[in-house]
Amino acid sequence: EHKVAKRSANWQVNYKNTLDNAEWDQIKAEIQPIINQGFGPLLVRLSWHDAGTYDAASNTGGPHATMRFAPVANYEANNGLGSARNMLAPIKSRHPGISYADLWSFAGAVAVSNIGGPTIQWRPGRNDAVDSSDSLTPDGRLPDADLGAAHLRSIFYRMGFGDREIVALSGGHNLGATHLGNSGYDGLWTSNPGSFGNEFFTRLNNDFFSNYQTETLSSGKTQYHDSSNKMMLPTDVSLIQDPSFTGFVQTYASDKNAFYGDFKAAFQRLQELGVGGGLGSPVETRFGVPTTGHD
Ligand code: HEM
Repeated sequence: EHKVAKRSANWQVNYKNTLDNAEWDQIKAEIQPIINQGFGPLLVRLSWHDAGTYDAASNTGGPHATMRFAPVANYEANNGLGSARNMLAPIKSRHPGISYADLWSFAGAVAVSNIGGPTIQWRPGRNDAVDSSDSLTPDGRLPDADLGAAHLRSIFYRMGFGDREIVALSGGHNLGATHLGNSGYDGLWTSNPGSFGNEFFTRLNNDFFSNYQTETLSSGKTQYHDSSNKMMLPTDVSLIQDPSFTGFVQTYASDKNAFYGDFKAAFQRLQELGVGGGLGSPVETRFGVPTTGHD
């Protein structure tokens, strides 16, 4: 933990949002084509993996773009995220006033807000780690999909979340895919992976026990799939096995608005772990709407 403690000396200090609304709208417009090409889910995952390193007890980790540096970039959990960072890098070059941490976080929030999810309230002001001697959080702070409910609790409680937020945030798996070459898992969770919704929960709640079977992949990993080859990770399945988690899965399966409300709040909290006090005023995350005002 020596390395972790050292970080504040080197971090970019006193970063403040100096961008005006027109520039935020421009950045949003430059994120839009990346989302339109189908990379919204990848942007969501990048923003979550940066923020999800937070440890509340030591106030270390959190959204500070440490993944630009080894060894964080090379942690197995972060496989596949280099392409997301590369897609965003030109936007950073054109808008040097934004921190990488804000850009990654904003891109994730803009993605959720524009592919059918709730409009995420987003505020700027995250500092970047400035070099590889800074701060790099140890491996193992992000969840391991092979494990179960106890592991999810130890990872998310460490960030300061509770059971409801664990289930709500897991609803990120309405989006995107697992890739054998990244994680050793393979496939889509839902029939609309490019668009947010609550199908992840309706599948767990209504179909899991009747329609899914275990499968061992060439990677040696075990996952679950149904007859249309939609998959679930072991950690996803723990949400319908653990009695406390299951109540929230039922709620989100039958009430999409309840899921959206909880996801919206939990995702904002995730993106503000350890930085909330220093953030500026909200920036609109939806395309085609004025920079002020939120739903
Ligand atoms: C993808 C694990 C929570 C959003 C993945 C992948 C794994 C994984 C193994 C596949 C990566 C790949 O092979 O490319 C987990 C575990 C979690 C968790 C164990 C514990 C609960 C979350 C959360 C979010 C999220 C909280 C966002 C709120 C995503 C998205 C993808 C993804 C959007 C798809 C990325 C793509 O399409 O390339 N996750 N995740 N995950 N995860 Fe999670």
